[in-house]
Amino acid sequence: MTAANSNSIAIKVSDLRRRFGTQQVLDGVDLECPRGQITTIVGPSGCGKTVFLKHLTLLMRADSGRIVINGVDVTRLSSRALDSVREQFGVLFQGGALFDSLTVFENVAFPLVEKTRMSREEIARAVNDKLAAVGLEGMGHKYPSEISGGMQKRAALARALIRNPNILYLDEPTTGLDPTRTGAIHELIRRTHEKFGLTVVMVSHDVPQVFEISDRVAFMHRGRMWLNGTVAQVMEAHDPIFERFLAGRGSGDDDLPAGGRSEARV
Ligand SMILES: Nc1ncnc2c1ncn2[C@@H]1O[C@H](COP(=O)(O)OP(=O)(O)OP(=O)(O)O)[C@@H](O)[C@H]1O
Ligand SMILES: [Mg+2]
Repeated sequence: MTAANSNSIAIKVSDLRRRFGTQQVLDGVDLECPRGQITTIVGPSGCGKTVFLKHLTLLMRADSGRIVINGVDVTRLSSRALDSVREQFGVLFQGGALFDSLTVFENVAFPLVEKTRMSREEIARAVNDKLAAVGLEGMGHKYPSEISGGMQKRAALARALIRNPNILYLDEPTTGLDPTRTGAIHELIRRTHEKFGLTVVMVSHDVPQVFEISDRVAFMHRGRMWLNGTVAQVMEAHDPIFERFLAGRGSGDDDLPAGGRSEARV
């Protein structure tokens, strides 16, 4: 790979494999996420999107394959060396759970309090800055139960951004929101991505709406990225399995016996 090439690719995944018992969840995943772009991963429930994101966020270790993040092969690093890689990304997990017993301010401040030696004033400045960026200025004193679902997602996004990451991972950032609030969160993701120059990797169920803010789409099927390219490329592929998925008729594996496709393939 040339220097120019490696610079333009923030994340490169090659032949990633992960099995749970007899279930081969990741079965040779290849994916390149260009720097500064939004890559959206879609696929039926249970196909392995969250498992894949947990590998990218270094919460799970693959059985084999490679993940290179900002030029560093993280599949070969010691746990200690992984900490410096972790500093480069922010994560909004599926469910986006905030700590109920902490205020919005305390939730967003949490990673700074835990992981840095910043002063209270510096932390307050950083938190207020990020709350403003997600449209929650003045809301820091509220508890999660006192704000709407959309506002909770915004707060979780502010927390994911608090350490100024260059990569942002989002797992279903709009779950449980109505279409209007979903659209507003999408818009916020797009604006945040532009404002902070982020590389975004997002898992989403909001098809096809989410394509409006995506640069690239990867469709996960049978443990791989079955389709992967720009939004236009993926839409124009007219892949029958992807079209069945878009039409809400599952993964194309509906005719397989219950118990999972990996068993059916053995
Ligand atoms: N820690 C684990 N141990 C065993 N199996 C697991 C584990 N985590 C996930 N799995 C299995 O891996 C498969 C993929 O799960 P995953 O959560 O990645 O699906 P998903 O694509 O994110 O689905 P959804 O769209 O519903 O969130 C599932 O069959 C799940 O049961
Ligand atoms: Mg999931």
